[in-house]
Amino acid sequence: MDKPFLPFALPDIGEPEIAGVVEALRSGWVTTGKRALEFEAAFAARIGARHAVAVNSCTAALHLALEALGVGPGDRVITTPYTFTATAEVVRYLGADVLLADVEEATSNLDPAAVEALLARLAAEDPATLERVKALVPVHFAGQACDMDALSAIAARHGLRVVEDAAHALPCTSGGRTIGTIGDVTAFSFYATKTITTGEGGMATTDDDAIAARMRLMRLHGINREVWDRYTSDKPQWYYEVVAPGFKYNLTDPAAAIGLGQLARCDAMRDRREAIARRYLDAFAGDDRLVLPHPVRPAEVHAWHLFVLRLVPRSPAATADRDAFIREMSARGIGTSVHFIPLHVHPFWRDRYGFRPEDFPVAWRSYRRSVSLPIYTRMTDGDVERVRDAVRESLDAVTG
Ligand SMILES: Cc1ncc(COP(=O)(O)O)c(C=O)c1O
Repeated sequence: MDKPFLPFALPDIGEPEIAGVVEALRSGWVTTGKRALEFEAAFAARIGARHAVAVNSCTAALHLALEALGVGPGDRVITTPYTFTATAEVVRYLGADVLLADVEEATSNLDPAAVEALLARLAAEDPATLERVKALVPVHFAGQACDMDALSAIAARHGLRVVEDAAHALPCTSGGRTIGTIGDVTAFSFYATKTITTGEGGMATTDDDAIAARMRLMRLHGINREVWDRYTSDKPQWYYEVVAPGFKYNLTDPAAAIGLGQLARCDAMRDRREAIARRYLDAFAGDDRLVLPHPVRPAEVHAWHLFVLRLVPRSPAATADRDAFIREMSARGIGTSVHFIPLHVHPFWRDRYGFRPEDFPVAWRSYRRSVSLPIYTRMTDGDVERVRDAVRESLDAVTG
């Protein structure tokens, strides 16, 4: 009998999460309440950040972060093309514009040298635009941290604020420091495929009291009194004041209940992802048809959100191998994905800024060769072996 299709990703929801949701539903409090507060406190403690602000997506966290830092119309924000559109779309929500700098070949993370080159070019050719560059948004691609020492130093030299997109990076370290404690704000995702999930959800961490207060205000309509507080303080329940045109980004208690259960298993779930990554790395070592993920420095924690293989093309023109490989994997019952189609080739970003594929050659080249393998806690060792065998057979079929 044929084996069932192995999906690219699956969430790992345990009995404590299910019990937590049932309890939240039975409590009658199904919007934001004490479980959301508890989740924020537990998350802040796990990361070692002063504040954690729970929201309904990482996109919301990124938006609130840039808004709280004062990014507005006419400003510029530097980020990477090798990301999901959410990283950049929030810049447009605020009427600001995106500047892209290319990534490092080895890690697909924002290249500090490319950021420096972009800033130097603006200084020489367009000082008015340089003046408007307000923030830098590094993305810890696949769960491997950017070089935050180098990027933070550049930001400090140029007076830029730093918002880290840590959608892939829980838990993760850079230079021994936990991601979530380095930049002005760090945004995490609890989307279904992430290390921990709340279905949809996100968290912004910061050590800055004023930034945290602004994000809390703006996540719920700019109301200066959160709903839960209205039911627990001695002021009349019906009273609140609107002090800004805020958003509707709050995380619900049933979602927070899932998050609390998941957070308790966060490190164990990362460890399982790493064990799978190690099996893949061992299995594919020495295969000259592949480029494996960049080695992790011994003292660093890699979240292993993604395991990205790059196919070595048989000739510079042979870029169709990756697509054929994905078809071969699918024929063997294995789900795969591609991370990422770079921002600058998507119609919106391409047309807005007149980008050409070669403008960010490293991102463009990596995209055309990359394929992401399944890596998640519910995979059995047998599943990992199935993927390993399918990779070898698919490579033979494509390159043979
Ligand atoms: C790098 C990156 N940033 C941001 C996001 C957005 O996360 P969310 O779906 O929680 O808004 C994603 C989603 O997968 C992502 O991959």
